Amino acid sequence: DPANLVTLVEVGPRDGLQNEKAAIPVDVKAELITRLAHAGAQVVEAGSFVSPKWVPQMAGTDSVLTSLPSLPPGTRLPVLVPNQKGLDSVFSLLDAHPHLRPAIEVSVFTAATDAFTRANLNCTVPESLQRLEPVIRSATDAGLRVRGYVSVVVACPYTGRVEAKRVRDVSETLASMGCYEISLGDTVGMGTPTTVGAMLEEVKKGVPVEKLAGHFHDTYGTAISNVLTALSHGIRTIDASVAGLGGCPYSPGATGNVATEDVLYALRDSPYHVAGTRSGGIDLHEMVEVGVWISEKLGRDVASRAGKAIQAR
Ligand code: HMG
Ligand code: MG
Repeated sequence: DPANLVTLVEVGPRDGLQNEKAAIPVDVKAELITRLAHAGAQVVEAGSFVSPKWVPQMAGTDSVLTSLPSLPPGTRLPVLVPNQKGLDSVFSLLDAHPHLRPAIEVSVFTAATDAFTRANLNCTVPESLQRLEPVIRSATDAGLRVRGYVSVVVACPYTGRVEAKRVRDVSETLASMGCYEISLGDTVGMGTPTTVGAMLEEVKKGVPVEKLAGHFHDTYGTAISNVLTALSHGIRTIDASVAGLGGCPYSPGATGNVATEDVLYALRDSPYHVAGTRSGGIDLHEMVEVGVWISEKLGRDVASRAGKAIQAR
């Protein structure tokens, strides 16, 4: 049933790695993306074209992209872009490496509070939207699909509980500027099925649910419940990170995204089908292996519960 087709956006190579302290070699990042794509992940967020002073770990995303082998047909590779300078870098990359053009998409990002936006983008929410408008237009004019992120949709690390109406307003604005999808980020991972559900009910009044995605960090252990809540509210696109890697450098103490393996496991035997480039979608066991591999590379424990359980069998 196409109404139950779920798309996972694998954010491990970006959200998962951006917060790591030690430098991760280009070839490890490229191998991670490649392994994820071969496990069936159709949408793999591959990196960021942000200031290397702000997020050093994402420097060299262009080298990562140019060193990728050919990936399964239909693989999509969104990259984060904060401003025109970032978009210009994407344009230069595509001019020099036109084979990447069919895969590359752009993700812009802002938030529901000025305090978080200042920490993340050095401006207020209205300023960020004003800056993003021409960036979104020039990307879409060039034929690139643009996704928009709204951070701190439930709680802000600087100002606490966030009003759903603010999330709705920013989401509506990004959609009206041309974003094909709005990913709602519980950056601090404080959301619960109750608060996430209430937020979604409000945002759905302004943006059709088909255009919404859920992005849940797991700081308080509620990410998988929030994913299931989002699905029950009609959302069919979920951001997830292999091995539960990740965190935002501007959200102190926040842990990684919901683990991809946990989402795949939770949806087994359900009416939902996860889309992927392999027949049968994304392969859970292969995803577990990718999670174990990258966690070893980073010297971390696998944060995915299903991944750990399957590995121990
Ligand atoms: P700024 O300091 O106000 O910008 O930062 P600036 O224009 O004054 O530039 C400062 C320096 O950065 C200059 O270099 C620029 O050239 C350079 P200098 O002259 O000092 O040598 N610069 C750039 N370099 C490369 N690429 C660029 C770029 N732009 C400027 N695109 C700025 C403003 C937006 C640049 C900065 O705040 C920034 O890069 N922020 C990005 C922060 C970030 O990546 N955060 C993590 C991703 S968001 C997230 O994790 C949340 C999410 O997962 C959803 C959720 O969980 O909620 C998506
Ligand atoms: Mg995030």
